[in-house]
Amino acid sequence: MAFTHDTIERKLPLLMILMALAVSFGGLVEIVPLLFDKDVTQPVAGLMPLNALQLEGRDIYLREGCYLCHSQMIRSLRAETERYGHYSVAGESVYDHPFLWGSERTGPDLARVGGKYSDDWHRAHLHNPRDVVPESIMPAYPWLEKNILTGDLTGRKMAALRQVGVPYTDDDIKGAQDAVKGHTEQDAVVAYLQQLGTIIKNTR
Ligand code: HEC
Repeated sequence: MAFTHDTIERKLPLLMILMALAVSFGGLVEIVPLLFDKDVTQPVAGLMPLNALQLEGRDIYLREGCYLCHSQMIRSLRAETERYGHYSVAGESVYDHPFLWGSERTGPDLARVGGKYSDDWHRAHLHNPRDVVPESIMPAYPWLEKNILTGDLTGRKMAALRQVGVPYTDDDIKGAQDAVKGHTEQDAVVAYLQQLGTIIKNTR
């Protein structure tokens, strides 16, 4: 029996196995080189780990599910770069654990929102988005300005991140609680938002 395309298409299990092989091979060819590509695995020049307050802000961003409506991933398409700025590069995310790229855009992408508005704008917007953007459908987060951070865990969070390669120093970890204690959750979220994407925004 000749091993032709015809044979393969008539034998469903064989077709499935060969398809799985072809897809796996294709996947490996795409993925494996990335593991060794410095552009993808190394931080972009000037990238700093989040400071203590920004790190707490990031955790609140996660807790509140902001990523369910906001991506942090600008694609390299003209419509995106005209609207949001330079497309996202992998080296910007190497200290992000887990990534907050997101996959849903009910609201705009936030990858380069840092510096776009004043802190006061963000505070008003988080308190009640309708106060600054009348047509907004974003939920209000009024509790963020009331909840006060203790910073009890901030240093330990940094130590954990250091284990997976984020270059926090002993001093960062030691000073973490003092840097956070007494601030509101809103302070932390605003600090986090204001640094998003600024490395590349300012240098390219
Ligand atoms: C239900 C979906 C939804 C959720 C959840 C949500 N947002 Fe939004 N967000 C929007 C929409 C829609 C807009 C656009 C209208 C506006 O500016 O309010 C927006 C706008 C924004 C903007 C302004 C972006 C720009 O470039 O103008 C920021 C900053 C922002 N959101 C931050 C947050 C943060 C922080 C959280 C979590 C605490 C959050 N959002 C949660 C839907 C959402």
